[in-house]
This record gives sequence, C-alpha cells and structure tokens, in this order.
Amino acid sequence: MELLNWDGTFSFFLIIAIHYIIHTVNGDDSLKVSLISTGSALPEKVLDNTEISTMVETSDQWITERTGIKTRRVVTTETTISLAVEASKRAMEKAGVAPSDIDLVICATITPDTVVPSAACRIRHELGIDKGAAFDVNAACSGFIYSVSLARSLMLTEDYNTALIVGSEVLSRIVDWTDRTTCILFGDGAGAAILKKDSDLGGEILATHIESFNDIQNALVCDNYPIETPFYTGYKPEKTKLVMDGQQVFRFAVNAIVDSITAVLKKAGKTADEIKYIVPHQANVRIIDSAANKLKIDKSRFFVNLHKVGNTSSASIPIALDELFDSEKPQKGDLVLIVGFGGGLTAGSALIRY
Ligand code: COA
Repeated sequence: MELLNWDGTFSFFLIIAIHYIIHTVNGDDSLKVSLISTGSALPEKVLDNTEISTMVETSDQWITERTGIKTRRVVTTETTISLAVEASKRAMEKAGVAPSDIDLVICATITPDTVVPSAACRIRHELGIDKGAAFDVNAACSGFIYSVSLARSLMLTEDYNTALIVGSEVLSRIVDWTDRTTCILFGDGAGAAILKKDSDLGGEILATHIESFNDIQNALVCDNYPIETPFYTGYKPEKTKLVMDGQQVFRFAVNAIVDSITAVLKKAGKTADEIKYIVPHQANVRIIDSAANKLKIDKSRFFVNLHKVGNTSSASIPIALDELFDSEKPQKGDLVLIVGFGGGLTAGSALIRY
C-alpha cells in the first residue's frame, strides 16, 4: 500500500517548511531554560551588630554605616546540607516538582560539610533524587550564577530537563571571629532554584555571562586544612580562616558588577532601562550604590536584603531572589538581572525574562 501519495508528501513538506519559516522569523529555536521557582532557608540564630560588638572592637554604627548590615544568621546545629535540603524542598514545592522529576543537581558552596561525597550528591540522596548528575561548584560568591550558567548549557546540549541549583554556605565556620575587618560581613544560609527546559511558566534565562580574574594580590583567601603525609610535612597553610583585603575587593566588586551587567545586556540585546529588578550579590550596600551610580541606574531598582542576612556568599543571590519573589510576583515580560562577584576572583550575571 502506498503510505503517502504525492499530495500527502507535498502537504507534509509544506507544513514543515511553514513551521521552519515561523521559527526562523521569530528567532525562536524552541529550546529554552527557565528559572521557575526559588526557595531559601536560614539558620535560627540571629547575630546582630550589638552582639558582634561584644566579640570584637566595633559598633553597630560603624558596621551599619560602612556596610549596611544590621543582622546575619549563623549556624548552631544546622549544616550546609540541612540548610540546602530545606531551601530545595521549598523551591520544589513552589514549582510543583517531585524528586523523580529532577535529573541534575548542582550545589554552589565554598563550605561543603564533606570533601567527598560532594554536597550536591548528599542533597540529592536526602531528597530522594535518583537519576541524572550531581556535583559541586566553587566559584565563591559567584557560585550560584556559575551554576545557573552551567546548568543552562548542560540542559541545552544534553538530555537534562529539570535542574535543582542550590547555593548553601556555613561561612561562620571559616570566618575568623577575632578579625573585625571580616567577621562583621558574613552570614550563613541557603537558597535554591528549579530550572526547567521548555517551560511556559516564565523565567526564561535569556543570557548568562561568567568570568574569572587572577587574584594576584591574594585579596580573598582561605587556605586548605593542614595536610601532612608520610612523604611531605612542609605544607603549612597560613590562612586557615578567611583573610581579605577589603578595599581591594571593594574596588574589584564595583567594576565587576558594572562590567558584568553591561556584558550580559549586550549578549541579550537589551538595555539597562528595560530591566525591572537587579538582584546583586549582597556584600555591602556601598558597593551596590557605587555600581548603580556608575551605571546611572536608579538604586531603587536594586533589590537589597543584606541588612538582614549579611553576605552569605553563593547563597546570597537565591536568598534575595526568593525574598523578592515572595513579596512581589514578577509580571509577564519583566526582566530580572542577577549579578555577582567573589573570591577567585570571579564574576557573573544572568538575565531572566518573566
Ligand atoms: N569596626 C570598627 N572599625 C573598623 C572595623 C570594624 N568592624 N573594621 C575596620 N575598621 C577600621 C580600620 O581598622 C580602619 O582604621 P584606621 O583608619 O585607624 O586604620 C578604618 O576602620 C577604616 O578601614 P577601611 O578598611 O578603610 O574601611 P572600609 O571603609 O574600606 O570598610 C570593609 C571595610 C571591609 C567594610 C569594606 O572595605 C568592604 O566591604 N570591602 C568589600 C568586602 C567584601 O565585600 N568581601 C566579600 C566579597 S564577596
């Protein structure tokens, strides 16, 4: 029997051709990755500036004026994994995603509870996810954006459909609580996001931009744990707690935000005027203000929650995104830009359309 006569074959190719023309004209190759939900979790203990003033020589006034930070959370019994699992459950619930849907888990952290297994593998295990890949990313405070960028690339080129991206940190364990120049800045917490391929729920990631720079002057360093082997005992780490040159990092941060925002907007063919919200890494309100001034973008468009949580490194952007979306649902077409910078040195940004 003839399966397709001349007319049938012609109609079939005509439909394919029309489909191709429509997609070419729209510039839509139908493959897209969207950030469809967020979740966050913070430790119970609140550490305010007044309590820090009892630990090092500082004051609420100094910390507030120089950083904008008023309180931060620090772990007691919580861990990187427990916070990450909590944040992930919330993001999964909001997205209506079950563990069996997830086929990619990436955890951004510089404070994993264990070296092996990775935090991502342990999160996956605790959540009952049992397919696909799981691994950690260390890009310091840019870690969440690096992970989003990496997940998006993997989802566009490989067979992953639903990704869980978590930034989780217990920085209080690597902070030097006798150093007033660093201990006032950091906090603990976790933020998570669900990324989905070909979703119609909004949140399409239009473009990402990630970059690294050599930290020639060791502006932000935390050495390895002491290592002695039967073969070499000469490795003596000097900085087993976080050590930072605040002013150098400050200068880098302002330029990194400006350059990274400019780069991702250029990639997406958008302008700063079109952005509804910018969610920057929450390190210091003076860094955000300086970048806003340089970019000539009104400060009110930068979402800030660092006064409550301090700098939670790779968790900072998803925690802030989660707070923003809980208070203000993005409307269809809204552009949200996330931008971060951190140790490495690293920087990154992503532009999302709702
Ligand atoms: N309380 C009171 N005084 C403090 C203090 C504190 N917690 N920390 C530093 N000081 C003192 C310094 O000793 C210095 O005193 P001096 O003038 O007598 O020498 C003075 O305050 C000014 O110090 P300086 O380092 O110039 O302050 P700053 O305005 O640069 O602010 C930071 C310091 C750390 C808040 C700021 O540089 C910063 O936020 N940098 C970026 C850090 C960051 O974001 N890191 C993470 C990146 S992901």
